[in-house]
Amino acid sequence: MSERTLVLVKPDGVERGLVGEVIGRIERKGLKLVALELREVGEELAKQHYAEHDGKPFFGSLLEFITSGKVLAAVVEGPRAISAFRQLAGGTDPVDKAAPGSIRGDFGLEVQFNLVHGSDSPESAEREIKLWFPEV
Ligand code: CMP
Repeated sequence: MSERTLVLVKPDGVERGLVGEVIGRIERKGLKLVALELREVGEELAKQHYAEHDGKPFFGSLLEFITSGKVLAAVVEGPRAISAFRQLAGGTDPVDKAAPGSIRGDFGLEVQFNLVHGSDSPESAEREIKLWFPEV
């Protein structure tokens, strides 16, 4: 069964010129791009996207980071797309958790600057896709 997930290339990934690398890996895996947009992220969208982290010690710096530059947002579709992209991305911590061969494992060093975001469940995917792409 096909499902959809929200993928972000965060400001560090865009700034470092890794958009093509991330999109290439998504496409080579066999996942399809349903929507794609390079955009600025306002404070309100950032707060809603990361609502589950409100109150955590890193919430303020997470908001500052995600609003600091352009973000590539995409809706990605395919069989088990949520898990498939999370496997491509690697674990949240690019050094301790992300395996070499994953996006974070190959290109990341710090947990905050971990290059990409992928929805973590069908419920999150539905909520995040509505938030970023209300028209899709
Ligand atoms: P993401 O998958 O986008 O979801 C929440 C984000 O919070 C995560 O990636 C990291 O960028 C960030 N994050 C998680 N843990 C920490 C932490 N301990 N310090 C700073 N940022 C964090």
